[in-house]
Amino acid sequence: VTVEKAGYKHFMAKEIAEQPAVLGDALRHYLRPDGSLNLPEELDFSGLDRLTLVACGTAYYACAVAKYWFESLARLPVEIDVASEFRYREPPLPAKSWALFVSQSGETADTLAALRYCAERVEKTVAVINVPSSTMAREADLALPIHAGVEVGVASTKAFTCQLLTLAVLALKAGRDRGVLSEADLAAHADALRALPGLMNTALGLSDDIARLAESLAEAQDVLFLGRGPLYPLALEGALKLKEISYIHAEGYASGELKHGPIALIERSVPVIVFAPHDRLFDKTVSNMQEVMARHGQVLLVSDAKGLQAAEQGTWARLKLPEVAEPFAPILYALPAQLIAYHTACAKGTDVDQPRNLAKSVTVE
Ligand code: G6P
Repeated sequence: VTVEKAGYKHFMAKEIAEQPAVLGDALRHYLRPDGSLNLPEELDFSGLDRLTLVACGTAYYACAVAKYWFESLARLPVEIDVASEFRYREPPLPAKSWALFVSQSGETADTLAALRYCAERVEKTVAVINVPSSTMAREADLALPIHAGVEVGVASTKAFTCQLLTLAVLALKAGRDRGVLSEADLAAHADALRALPGLMNTALGLSDDIARLAESLAEAQDVLFLGRGPLYPLALEGALKLKEISYIHAEGYASGELKHGPIALIERSVPVIVFAPHDRLFDKTVSNMQEVMARHGQVLLVSDAKGLQAAEQGTWARLKLPEVAEPFAPILYALPAQLIAYHTACAKGTDVDQPRNLAKSVTVE
């Protein structure tokens, strides 16, 4: 397949813009019109003691978000690790456990080695991949495609949100199998997932505002990203994205952990990007944000109408997203995270699609 930029300046911009469409495809694949889940019969999570999630890079952060979902929606204990650590620490694995590997390419050397380690030690290995003909898809007991289409930009964008969607559907299946979610709960969550492409379109409309903010962000030496709950791994992903393509030092932190170190970095020149939907943990995150502002940190608050109304005072800048069902907020908030990295890189004039020192797929250790 030849893939072209279709009028966009970069593949990354095109791939960011494609997300409502590809997420829609993935949804149609995994959710039937009647709201039931379309997953292989053999995926029955009922007797499991543990699920192990392993990946590298952006795919690892998708696993880190999914841990919150499997725990809260299915009460299933989850272990996660980056593949390069997992493969060498000889982790003991309970017999009644599965291991799930997330990889855009399906070829990443460390993730593949981790899969091979688990193959003879767990009940089932599952590969969540974008390339159906990949080595991981062949070697795992079960392969689930994420339906993102070909991704060319080295910095992963649409593969990330499609990985999240696929993992969300798996967490819902686990919740049903384990008797945690009722039929009605499942239907409500399915509706929430179906709303995402529309919400993403609204989020893409922030692109010009973000491009303006990026002019200032491009001047920064360091940027902090904060979030709580499932938005914490999204803060990590936001920081990774910015590092990868703009070469600005960035760190993601759990909002509540700020006072245990990174707050020492805060001064006027440090932008702090806060992902804070108006959810159950909102007030906690806002109080961390106020600690930042009290030290003259420049806060960019990414929230919804309610959140901004409650907490915009004293912030440097704001981005308003539509309201989204609480568990799935990271799928929507990924878009501003990607656009912040993209526009900052453009403002700096870096090679967005081929950032220095990075490869799309790392097939050697
Ligand atoms: C490389 C890419 C990242 C990607 C990671 C894992 O570092 O630059 O964008 O997240 O590999 O790749 P995979 O194909 O396993 O998802």
